[in-house]
Amino acid sequence: MKTQIGIIGAGPAGLILAQLLHLQGIDSVILERKSRNNIEGTVKAGILEQTTIDILREMGVGGRMDREGHFHNGNYFQFNGQRRHIDLKKYSGGKQVVVYPQHEVIIDLVNARYENGKDIIFDVEDVTLHDIDTNQPKIRYRKNGLDEELVCDFIAGCDGYHGPSRLAIPDRKEHVHFYQYGWLGILSDSAPAADELIYASHDQGFALLSTRTSILQRHYLQVDPYDDINNWSDDRIWSELTARTKTNDGWQVPDGPINSKGIFQMRSFVCETMQYGRLFIAGDAAHTVPPTGAKGLNLAATDVKVMSRGITEFYQSGSTDVLDRYSEICLRRVWKAERFSYFMTRLLHTDPKFDSFERGVQLAELDYYTSSEAGLSTIAENYVGLPIQWGNVGDIKSLIN
Ligand code: PHB
Repeated sequence: MKTQIGIIGAGPAGLILAQLLHLQGIDSVILERKSRNNIEGTVKAGILEQTTIDILREMGVGGRMDREGHFHNGNYFQFNGQRRHIDLKKYSGGKQVVVYPQHEVIIDLVNARYENGKDIIFDVEDVTLHDIDTNQPKIRYRKNGLDEELVCDFIAGCDGYHGPSRLAIPDRKEHVHFYQYGWLGILSDSAPAADELIYASHDQGFALLSTRTSILQRHYLQVDPYDDINNWSDDRIWSELTARTKTNDGWQVPDGPINSKGIFQMRSFVCETMQYGRLFIAGDAAHTVPPTGAKGLNLAATDVKVMSRGITEFYQSGSTDVLDRYSEICLRRVWKAERFSYFMTRLLHTDPKFDSFERGVQLAELDYYTSSEAGLSTIAENYVGLPIQWGNVGDIKSLIN
């Protein structure tokens, strides 16, 4: 089989890339290890920043997000029992975020792919990459017990942290940072906590109150990353969520039956470089962030926006300028999102090793960022998503285009 772009992975990166390329008349084949049901049903985080909202709309797949998503102009940071509003829209020059979970984005993109008359090859096994330093890279895989080969012009590695693509890049440098914090996430049949998300810092640990629909809420608690979910009865979860998020004026989080719960660890990870020969990696294959900054899917979307522009320029004019600088352009933004996610994680989580001085500094930081124009602006512009800087690093003009 032959195609222009062989895409490994039908997550947000692979599916957005396929749609962007399709709109430029560029052909692709998507290979996915899991089944369609699996990718459309997995519960993941749910915030899309303005940059991603714009990409989905430009691609013509923003309709359901616009109708069903919850658009937020701000969020709340809470500490010492006080709730402080961050007006994201005001401090970012009119930008917004939307609560629209990742699996809904996946459903919309898979539908768009089929509406384009294109397929996704699900349930593939043993994916390997070959000849990526030649003009005819190949992907080999097994499907229904048969060995297959896909010959392409370029390979897009959108196969997540555990996929084979990144491992095909020789001499890469991997930067990894682990945190002492895990998140326990729940879905509950309860009323929304507030009109916007609440990020709460508390001596007992961080809590986040998010939402899905008017009757289904998504909340998180900071826990020991190695804790066992069986130690967390529904009563214990609600009593911790209540203690960590109640305010001095007596407000308490609305509770209800919990219908799913799980604990996950957090990791920051960056792979330098994101390209080798005719292979370009994107999304979680290249970098991961802790969820505190709500950046994961958003980084995947901007990576593939850069990739699709580079590939389009190549086919239209033969220019490899953007493709040659793909990793440089992406990593410039990725490192800033990594910085913000790391900053938000350290700002909001309670480190069991902190002494009272360090907790005092943390509370002062929370007070500063939520009460100074400079603090509010820096939170807002990062939370809604920084622009892609297309120019060379060091070229100051690229800061503004
Ligand atoms: C979510 O709703 O799943 C969510 C929202 C904000 C975050 C992380 C997760 O920072």
